[in-house]
Amino acid sequence: MAVIAVYSVKGGVGKSTLSAALAWNSAMVSRRQTLLWDLDVQGAAAFLTGIDPPLATRAASIFTRELAPEELIQPTAYDKLDLLPADDSLRSLDSIFERIGKRRRLARLTEELARRYERIVLDCPPVLNELSAQVIRAAALIIVPLPPSPLARRALDAIRAELVRSHKTHPPILPVFSMVDRRRRLHRAALEEMPDWPVIPMASRIEQMAERREPVGAFAPNEPPARAIATLWAAVERKLASPG
Ligand SMILES: Nc1ncnc2c1ncn2[C@@H]1O[C@H](COP(=O)(O)OP(=O)(O)OP(=O)(O)O)[C@@H](O)[C@H]1O
Ligand SMILES: [Mg+2]
Repeated sequence: MAVIAVYSVKGGVGKSTLSAALAWNSAMVSRRQTLLWDLDVQGAAAFLTGIDPPLATRAASIFTRELAPEELIQPTAYDKLDLLPADDSLRSLDSIFERIGKRRRLARLTEELARRYERIVLDCPPVLNELSAQVIRAAALIIVPLPPSPLARRALDAIRAELVRSHKTHPPILPVFSMVDRRRRLHRAALEEMPDWPVIPMASRIEQMAERREPVGAFAPNEPPARAIATLWAAVERKLASPG
């Protein structure tokens, strides 16, 4: 089992979109039993996989162990893809972590879920707090979506420096250029500077996920945007197989 976190301190960089699309690839292309765990109160990951927000607000009770994850996990319309939805209770997650004092609670929960899942994708909120620290302790790989700009490398360096400062060891980081428009000179320049980083295009097909409430692979699998995400998923699988 491997936990893959899609994380950045920045908002609106494509974390939820990538989380949903990558989890779909894990389930539907790699045929792995996959859990998409939405850790952001906004509930975007659920929305993008066609799941309505839960009526109850109990997601935080998983972290206090008052509730087993299985009680909130829902199947999606896609074979092998389940979702653990977010709700408003997650707003109090940081004080919960402070109260329970278990630094590896999320890591333990994911380890226990390894009985059922081969891949767990965490859609993270754009925060730097105990939740993000828990995510870093739980993940085997951290995907960081970065808007293509001359500042992309510095933004990644800042995240890496933060990880090194607050965690003795941290999982490997996979930076990804998100929302790339190759017609733009600065985007092309950013890609030339970091030619090894995977690239996800700025595409209306990807934007449409929020309208159709489906991962792009489900409705336009053979078009370039979905192929870019499939290629990224393949890179994720390779990285998990040999982290070095
Ligand atoms: N490759 C893309 N092409 C076009 N639009 C995109 C792409 N990726 C994301 N978007 C759009 O950008 C917006 C932000 O994406 P998303 O919600 O995935 O970001 P986020 O990092 O999860 O944001 P937040 O920090 O608020 O959780 C959404 O409207 C989404 O549809
Ligand atoms: Mg999001």
